[in-house]
Amino acid sequence: MEPMLSIKNMVKRFGGLVAVNDVSLDVYPGEVVALLGDNGAGKSTLIKCVSGVYHADEGEVYFEGQLVRFSRPIEARRHGIETIYQDLALANNLDVGSNIFLGREVKKRYLGGLIRTLDNDFMLQQSQMALDSLGIHFPDLTQPIESLSGGQRQAVAIARAVYWDAKLMIMDEPTNNLGVPEQRKVLDTIRTLRERGVPIILISHTLPDIFAVSDRLIVMHRGRKVTEKKISETNTQEIVQYMVGALDDTREQ
Ligand SMILES: Nc1ncnc2c1ncn2[C@@H]1O[C@H](COP(=O)(O)OP(=O)(O)O)[C@@H](O)[C@H]1O
Ligand SMILES: [Mg+2]
Repeated sequence: MEPMLSIKNMVKRFGGLVAVNDVSLDVYPGEVVALLGDNGAGKSTLIKCVSGVYHADEGEVYFEGQLVRFSRPIEARRHGIETIYQDLALANNLDVGSNIFLGREVKKRYLGGLIRTLDNDFMLQQSQMALDSLGIHFPDLTQPIESLSGGQRQAVAIARAVYWDAKLMIMDEPTNNLGVPEQRKVLDTIRTLRERGVPIILISHTLPDIFAVSDRLIVMHRGRKVTEKKISETNTQEIVQYMVGALDDTREQ
């Protein structure tokens, strides 16, 4: 089977700091790959180099077998890579519907296309359907995002990915700052996407969640990939050893 996503020898520097150091990884259709590591390990930087937020200094990204180089996040989204960022790339002043259609707004045409305005009714109706299909209920979709809770914002980001039929979903700490019922909902959504064959890169610190939903684990330490394991081949204690740098498959033992 061909990988859906292939990262080859990626390097990203910030001045003298090597945030991502020669990382390669593959993601296959229908699998959940967990990306783990201590704070500052380079996880967010790595995925931002895939999704077009940052440009890698070295290395290549192949998506569906094609060499890609996204200069902006919207280009990655148009290819089917939906990313839910740790710091949530939602527009705070816009409502739920407008966020789901952000960068892909639907317009109404008048006078044979001479006049075009945003089709807010259509976007709201479609957003309602996307949220309903995930079992998420909002009292009022016209509320601006800034008035929503963390969990509701995550839900909007996830609904956006589902609505646009993501081919690859990247989730950077999606259950952070969420209450327990909302965390469950996110985990259920991960399982639903996986059943639909959508591969997911999941960044999380919550090891029980990782072990509950992932197929494979990749651990980063100080910018480098230090191990890659199937869930069935490892356990929490061993993964923690890799996360703190006590174990490292790339080092001479
Ligand atoms: N925009 C930036 N400018 C400078 N340094 C950065 C920037 N983003 C991240 N870093 C640094 O890169 C390293 C990796 O950060 P990050 O990818 O956010 O780690 P993680 O997501 O694993 O916690 C850290 O040392 C962090 O301080
Ligand atoms: Mg991070």
